[in-house]
Amino acid sequence: MTTRPRHIAIIMDGNGRWAESRHLPRILGHRRGVETVRKIVTAVRNEEIPYLTLYAFSSENWQRPDEEVGALMGLLGHYLSHELKTMLQEDICLQVIGDTSRLPENVRAILLDAVQKTAGNRTMTLILALSYGGRAELVQAARQLAVKVAAGELSPDAIDHADFADCLETQGIPDPDLLIRTSGEMRISNFLLWQIAYAELYFSETYWPDFDETQLQAALAEYARRQRRFGLTGAQLRREDSHS
Ligand code: FPP
Repeated sequence: MTTRPRHIAIIMDGNGRWAESRHLPRILGHRRGVETVRKIVTAVRNEEIPYLTLYAFSSENWQRPDEEVGALMGLLGHYLSHELKTMLQEDICLQVIGDTSRLPENVRAILLDAVQKTAGNRTMTLILALSYGGRAELVQAARQLAVKVAAGELSPDAIDHADFADCLETQGIPDPDLLIRTSGEMRISNFLLWQIAYAELYFSETYWPDFDETQLQAALAEYARRQRRFGLTGAQLRREDSHS
């Protein structure tokens, strides 16, 4: 069994508390959070981990005050337009999951441009979850399957895991092996509900703006210590190992 994750997913939490604990406006926490995004993307790429998914904006985040939503959208647009060059240099392919139709038109245009321009890159895939909600993703997958059944293309009895996974936005992307959440909260918050079925969960007390490469290394070391079982017994796993 490999001791290194192929796909890391991160719930970047604690920007607001980082700022509030310093008597700063929350937006400064988000700004520092973007710096962390830059550092962690490069660190993950340098670790030769091929997939990284970041929960950058949930479908619930639209309910935050307009000022904060506007500031987050501004930061996102700024990040994407500045990082495109780095993504091209570092051979990073950008993908997005979530309801991008809700994003401001200018941000959406920058995003789709970056997705298109980096589509051929292979060293790492960076997936941004934007206006994303796991339940909504599952519901739309169920709808897609229902349409195929109604059209007589698929029999309900024949629907299997692979059919379902093919209707998700993460189609073709391996499931995350390691899910990290920062800031001491221990929740999944509607993130990748199907895809994290067997992920190792790692909770860090650190607020996202203070999360750094050393802490990423600590998460990777913890992951390497865990024994992933996928429902098998220890003895079965040892037998599998000896055959691989
Ligand atoms: C959680 O902190 C973080 C977010 C809601 C957004 C995360 C966004 C960024 C890191 C910046 C933009 C992202 C990119 C990819 C450019 P919180 O505000 O919920 O913190 P709190 O729980 O302490 O209030």
